[in-house]
Amino acid sequence: MPDLAAQQLHADPRLAQARQLIVDSLADAQQSIDRPRTADPDKAHAYQQQLDAFAKLRGGALPIPYLGSGLGNGPLVELLDGSVKYDMICGIGVHGLGHSDSGLINAGLDGALADAVMQGNLQQNSESKTLCDDLVERACRQGAKLAHCFLTTSGSMANDNALKIIFQKHAPADRIMAFGKCFSGRTLAMASVTDKAAYRDGLPETVKVGYLPFLKAGEVGKSIDSTIKHLDNHVARYAGRVAGVMFEMIQGEGGYNAGNAEYFTAVMSRCKELGLAVWVDEIQSFGRTSAPFAFQHYGLDDLIDVVSVGKMTQVCATLFTSDYNPRPGLISQTFTGASSQIFAAREVLQRLDEGGVFGTVGLNMTYRQRFAEELQAIHQRHPDKLGPSLFGEGTMIGFEVYDGDAGRTKAVMNRLYDLGVIAFLCGGDPLRLRFLPPVAVMQPGDVQAVCSLLEQALMDTTAA
Ligand SMILES: Cc1ncc(COP(=O)(O)O)c(C=O)c1O
Repeated sequence: MPDLAAQQLHADPRLAQARQLIVDSLADAQQSIDRPRTADPDKAHAYQQQLDAFAKLRGGALPIPYLGSGLGNGPLVELLDGSVKYDMICGIGVHGLGHSDSGLINAGLDGALADAVMQGNLQQNSESKTLCDDLVERACRQGAKLAHCFLTTSGSMANDNALKIIFQKHAPADRIMAFGKCFSGRTLAMASVTDKAAYRDGLPETVKVGYLPFLKAGEVGKSIDSTIKHLDNHVARYAGRVAGVMFEMIQGEGGYNAGNAEYFTAVMSRCKELGLAVWVDEIQSFGRTSAPFAFQHYGLDDLIDVVSVGKMTQVCATLFTSDYNPRPGLISQTFTGASSQIFAAREVLQRLDEGGVFGTVGLNMTYRQRFAEELQAIHQRHPDKLGPSLFGEGTMIGFEVYDGDAGRTKAVMNRLYDLGVIAFLCGGDPLRLRFLPPVAVMQPGDVQAVCSLLEQALMDTTAA
């Protein structure tokens, strides 16, 4: 007889049977979600009414006209209008295991069976501790010294906590540095860090931020000199007042601009010489390169002090070295995450590891190559419509259509959506399209299917 009542519950064979019934029923329902499907004209009116009502309630239209039915199948998702689409954006990188994954549904059942819906700073179950262990263990695999992990509910909060930890350690320094075009979230503090005027329109400046120029493609040596010169100048101008530098190593919102190992090693090493905290925002890049963390992909393990993660991890977190452990009272929250999120996070981490996602020939890097080949072939056929370059890194895949013209790029995205592929925008001038594909649950043929719909969308928008 198990000694805890909870163990007794989890050992009950009726639970195993119930789980099996749920998974079987899921598999049956998923059978019809096997390829993209256009919307059902009979559902169009009701769908549009729901979208309009939702837009009214939230005070503005949704970024894309998406209302899910609640069921999907790997990279495919069913919407309430009866359409089935390839989801190549996954909530901007959240659904790393795609849609209606049976492992995640099982994790959700574990969450549902937990005694409380939400876990938080005052009361956490052992799965919260295990998740922190899982994240720290992965972060330290190549030698980083990240000893601590604090869970939280959004990427912006993980960044807010990172910033507080860094400021406390470097007090009375009151300035931070980041890179031009960075995106770090939407809290009041992060709206000051994010380098986009529209996202801080009408807001007071809450954090004093100096911006560094990012790596210019093909100009590594020059970029290193220029970034370090800006860094040195700023630190000299505000002597003793700069606490650290925030690195978004593969800029997401900014346009899928990726740095590289040589550039980051040089700039981060200079930060260390200047006594500044090195903070990496991995909220979009976690799980998308040849290693769990992009700082590992670039081999920067010795240089990192603080890391924020989110999106694919389901629960967001701030990881930091012992040197940065804040004094009691600085960070705390009612909610660290829902029980279901915490179980889901553990499932995602395990599946990424066991599913062959990482490594130089793991799924992330091989799927990037597959997309590169397909997109290159479209470029060869239509050099006026699709540009030759692939932006981003790993499964952060960016490309340019019609030289980044905003109107035509949006038209291609919308047409692609109607044809059955969800993509999204990034950058500004030029505007780009981005994919964040859930490669752990994809088949190579999906890449061809997605890219042939992209080619169709390009043809259709030319004709329009
Ligand atoms: C690099 C980066 N940092 C921070 C955030 C903010 O995360 P959240 O939207 O969960 O607050 C995002 C979200 O897109 C991001 O991509």
